[in-house]
Amino acid sequence: MEGVLLRRAAQLLGSARRVVVLTGAGISAESGVPTFRDGLTGLWARFDAQRLATAEAFHADPDLVWGWCEWRRARVSRAEPNPGHLAIATIQTRVLGSTVITQNVDDLHERAGTRAPIHLHGSLFAPRCVAAAAHPATFEGTSDGEPAQPHEGRRIPPPRCASCAALVRPGVVWFGEPLPEAALTAAVEAAVACDVLLTVGTSGVVHPAAEIPRVAARSGAAVIQVNPQPTPLDQVCAINLRGTAAHVLPALVAAAWEETGEE
Ligand code: OAD
Repeated sequence: MEGVLLRRAAQLLGSARRVVVLTGAGISAESGVPTFRDGLTGLWARFDAQRLATAEAFHADPDLVWGWCEWRRARVSRAEPNPGHLAIATIQTRVLGSTVITQNVDDLHERAGTRAPIHLHGSLFAPRCVAAAAHPATFEGTSDGEPAQPHEGRRIPPPRCASCAALVRPGVVWFGEPLPEAALTAAVEAAVACDVLLTVGTSGVVHPAAEIPRVAARSGAAVIQVNPQPTPLDQVCAINLRGTAAHVLPALVAAAWEETGEE
């Protein structure tokens, strides 16, 4: 049965002219980056989002919030893209009209070779000045390379903006904040225009990102989901492939373009 579903999904993917791939934390799980809501290992089972991922939390304790982001950035810096990220980069080379949209704040899509992924929730690698949203943060120190101190829970004072001396904040979207407007607009436009939307490794419970597969389905696209668990998106999807990204995506891409590896 799974083989039949995979082949049907591969036919849809292989004949599509515009593909959107929407990813969540599950795409990076097999690279060793923890998800948010998976059982005991998810970040929100171990850490309090209200103390670490809101504007109020940063105002109350900037060192704690910056230190937590530095710890996450260190983990991501040590991680490598997995075969799921690589398969998505291959889709982009096969289907010129394809767009990768991610909720992730890591840079594993870029390091796998995906061009210009849309980051709906910002990036751990794009800190900015708190004083002005559009003001790029120029500062000495920790936005590139391996952070100095990676262990969890350690307070690290955020740097100061070189132009105005205000605090520099992580470049991620916090709870209660709007998504970056240009990113959301581009994502919705791509979803409206695509023939196939592949949603990978997202719980589909965080809005507005979770609307994107629904927008694509309403606009007539076939939505294919890759996830080892059922999600609220199951009912929106034409095909649900139960499995992990690093297993299913390479098989899907190989089947879509008939790369069996056999002589
Ligand atoms: P979640 O942690 O909510 O969900 C991860 C999903 O990935 C679940 O549905 C898992 O079943 C699935 N999964 C786990 N391992 C997988 C694997 N190896 N291959 C494929 N799927 C796998 O993560 P997101 O849906 O990305 O927001 O979370 C959405 C947002 O909630 C995040 O961007 C973050 C968080 O709060 C912000 O920080 C703004």
